[in-house]
Amino acid sequence: MVTGALGQLGKELVALLMEAGYQVSAVDLPEFDLTDSSVVEAHLSSERPQFIFHCAAYTDVERAEEEPELARQINALATADLSVSADGLGAPLVYISTDFVFDGEQRKPYTEDIYPNPLSAYGRSKRDGELAVMQSCRKYFIVRTSWLFGRSPAAFPQKILAKASENAPLKVVDDQRGSPTYARDLAGGLLPLLGSDAYGVYHLANGGTASWYELACETLKLADMGDYPIERVSAGEFTTKAKRPAYSVLDCSKYKETFGVELRHWREALAEYVQS
Ligand SMILES: NC(=O)c1ccc[n+]([C@@H]2O[C@H](COP(=O)([O-])OP(=O)(O)OC[C@H]3O[C@@H](n4cnc5c(N)ncnc54)[C@H](OP(=O)(O)O)[C@@H]3O)[C@@H](O)[C@H]2O)c1
Repeated sequence: MVTGALGQLGKELVALLMEAGYQVSAVDLPEFDLTDSSVVEAHLSSERPQFIFHCAAYTDVERAEEEPELARQINALATADLSVSADGLGAPLVYISTDFVFDGEQRKPYTEDIYPNPLSAYGRSKRDGELAVMQSCRKYFIVRTSWLFGRSPAAFPQKILAKASENAPLKVVDDQRGSPTYARDLAGGLLPLLGSDAYGVYHLANGGTASWYELACETLKLADMGDYPIERVSAGEFTTKAKRPAYSVLDCSKYKETFGVELRHWREALAEYVQS
């Protein structure tokens, strides 16, 4: 079963699972609302999934500051209910989480044993989701990823390309660093979890690090718009409701050691993404 099957990650994961010959129960809004426990219960008892990838989430970081309760309801409370049901079925549950559970005070990649300290309502709701999974489900994987881009107009590279094609001015933050991650690469990296019993918390992102500015420049370069002017700004120059970590690079060595999976460098992944 894949929740959030129409989202950036869910879409890629469903496609890869089907290509690999799995029978997939792909669910998303509007038919499947995680916050409606009767819908979730009915679905689980009829489908009886053997493995659950929980990719659905409230992901609008800015809007979550205005409606933190809704973010918590979807990312934490509904996740708690799903975890209890998964445990009842004996189905392993994969909860996709985020680098935004960290405060960004470090200047070296975050390992799984560093205590989360989220700065935003979104980050808190995902941290609470992680705790719920740990408490309610014995067979869990929590996979934290970062700066996801997939086939969605809301993906950062697509927004940059859209603005450039409209000739709109571009101002991009250069003092926040993370690891951009291609949703298709992440989906591929999740497949080895099927059949594994190495439960626990893991980090998984594309290799290398970037600032948003560097990511924007590379995107434009790959789309043959490398001359397009971009103003490099600091996060402080933007008024945003949500606070974001200044540094949220994830150390993915535990995943590599356990599953033998290492995602390629983000530049290589971005090149494929822009070309496709
Ligand atoms: N995007 C990032 O940069 C990023 C970074 C780190 C981690 N993550 C995590 O990675 C996972 C996948 O992210 P993504 O970028 O693929 O997210 P996404 O594109 O926003 O997809 C999430 C999906 O969940 C659905 N959804 C929202 N509320 C729901 C509800 N109440 N019931 C059922 N489905 C619901 C959404 O539907 P609607 O679109 O209709 O709301 C959407 O189809 C999430 O857990 C996210 O927290 C994302």
